[in-house]
Amino acid sequence: MKHVPVVKMDHGILIWLVTLCVALGNSQEAQEEDPNINWLSTKVTTDTSSLTSTLQNDFESSVQKALSWLVSQRESDWGWRNETPTVLMALQLAKETRDSNSILPNALEMQLSAKQMEIEIVTLLWRHNEIPIVPPKLTQYALALSTLCQDPRQFHGHDLIGTIQHHEIVHDLDFAYTTLAACTANAHLRKKQIRRLLDIANAAKDHNIDTVAMVILALRCISKDHRHRNLQHSLRRPTINLAREQQPDGGFGNLYNTALVVQALQNITDASTHWNESAAKYYIESRQDPDGAFTDPGLTANVVLSLQPKGLGAIRTLSCGKSSPDVENHVELDGLTSSLSNHGNDSEIRNVTITYTLWVGTNVTENYTMSLVVPRNTSFYNVMVMAMELDPHYTFEASEWPNGHYVHSIAGYKEEPMGYHYWLLYRLPELPDPQAPPGNHLVAPVGVDGLLIEEGDHYLFWYKKL
Ligand SMILES: *[C@@H]1O[C@H](CO)[C@@H](O)[C@H](O)[C@H]1NC(C)=O
Ligand SMILES: *[C@@H]1O[C@H](CO)[C@@H](O)[C@H](O)[C@H]1NC(C)=O
Ligand SMILES: *[C@@H]1O[C@H](CO)[C@@H](O)[C@H](O)[C@H]1NC(C)=O
Ligand SMILES: *[C@@H]1O[C@H](CO)[C@@H](O)[C@H](O)[C@H]1NC(C)=O
Ligand SMILES: *[C@@H]1O[C@H](CO)[C@@H](O)[C@H](O)[C@H]1NC(C)=O
Ligand SMILES: *[C@@H]1O[C@H](CO)[C@@H](O)[C@H](O)[C@H]1NC(C)=O
Ligand SMILES: *[C@@H]1O[C@H](CO)[C@@H](O)[C@H](O)[C@H]1NC(C)=O
Repeated sequence: MKHVPVVKMDHGILIWLVTLCVALGNSQEAQEEDPNINWLSTKVTTDTSSLTSTLQNDFESSVQKALSWLVSQRESDWGWRNETPTVLMALQLAKETRDSNSILPNALEMQLSAKQMEIEIVTLLWRHNEIPIVPPKLTQYALALSTLCQDPRQFHGHDLIGTIQHHEIVHDLDFAYTTLAACTANAHLRKKQIRRLLDIANAAKDHNIDTVAMVILALRCISKDHRHRNLQHSLRRPTINLAREQQPDGGFGNLYNTALVVQALQNITDASTHWNESAAKYYIESRQDPDGAFTDPGLTANVVLSLQPKGLGAIRTLSCGKSSPDVENHVELDGLTSSLSNHGNDSEIRNVTITYTLWVGTNVTENYTMSLVVPRNTSFYNVMVMAMELDPHYTFEASEWPNGHYVHSIAGYKEEPMGYHYWLLYRLPELPDPQAPPGNHLVAPVGVDGLLIEEGDHYLFWYKKL
């Protein structure tokens, strides 16, 4: 194994380096036995991308067999039963690192599978009253959408990340996983969330290894954001401690954990001397079934993510049609995304269904909810006028300002700046529940005139003390 830290450089140099790396890789087998050799050591940060060519080639045939097996498991509806998002993510990331590959589905087949996945998501959202949404499940879909260069915050007008974040997530592993998906989608993360991840990373001994690996994946993603660069420093010790958990057999407990840890430690130079990456990958490879599977489609997809250069940690940095050296992949992707968004000719949908709720009091002592069917592209102000005509509880008063209406009274309650009582407008992915009141991040970003309603959204005006 060898590391070629790449610090900001243009694509020409990057391609040159890859070529060089491959060329040298064939003639320098002897030196590469030692993973600690940092030939071209221009180490700059703890999270530099490294080009690992020979190591990759060693496992390429296992990856190919696993990919072929995954493709062979595709159902006639183009999905993979419960594992459609995970498998699709593995296949797409595999496509990212291979020029053209006959064993992988072509662009049209990928589109059909992506469509099947969309149907699964819609079904999940549609039935959420009968079968409550399970955040980790929705998270798999959000990550798969990001991998396919679709924004999970705008899934046909629905914010999947908002829905996920709206749930209180007790389990630390699920929490880290959902946070990774939110970060991958470039969603805003609260300080509280980052602090919880850091607390877990710093008390790793009290947590399972898969939780710690997922926390590191989430924190590495967050640290790519320029506002959180300083996190890279906090990651050093937890990653080294994680690397040291490697067992004599090369694994980190079981196949799933090993696959996750390999992704968490991928490209981290500081940790590389504390574990043996090849040994971990041989551990994984030795568990492959003769037909190429690693037990089942879900596990096989996760293993593929760990044996190839791009895993869970690489999704955020996919170029998605922006300037990129491997243009070919992205031509297909562009086709994929535009055909997905054109398909359901949105302009045919003239009316949208939304709910409008009023809550009075910080402890919600009075509440009203109505469902409305209104024309598309209506401002929330117009919705308020319609609601007032339908139900007198929704009577409101607003003052007019140059920048629009300012609502100061609804349902007979007037704002009291002296007592810090205000009407706050929220836009929510789900019907509001007083048991789990929405956080401030869901307050509508614009005023009642600028807020255009969207299909399936839930609006809440809450009279509360700030
Ligand atoms: C890493 O593991 C591989 C495979 O088990 C082994 O051949 C190699 O010698 C190990 N490297 C070190 C530095 O221990
Ligand atoms: C690791 O390095 C490879 C090769 O440069 C790159 O494709 C991949 O995106 C990197 N992964 C992460 C998580 O940075
Ligand atoms: C979508 O529907 C509108 C109105 O029915 C129609 O004018 C438009 O041509 C359609 N667009 C596409 C891409 O089918
Ligand atoms: C949209 O809703 C209006 C009432 O708000 C109704 O008159 C109209 O028929 C609806 N249009 C469609 C296409 O459903
Ligand atoms: C809201 O409820 C909490 C406890 O449930 C109570 O301590 C608090 O005084 C209540 N606030 C108001 C304004 O009634
Ligand atoms: C909402 O109001 C109804 C009566 O209109 C009441 O039965 C219900 O308990 C209230 N719900 C909450 C959460 O306060
Ligand atoms: C919605 O309104 C905006 C601006 O008011 C306009 O640009 C857009 O074309 C409208 N969309 C539809 C589908 O009518």
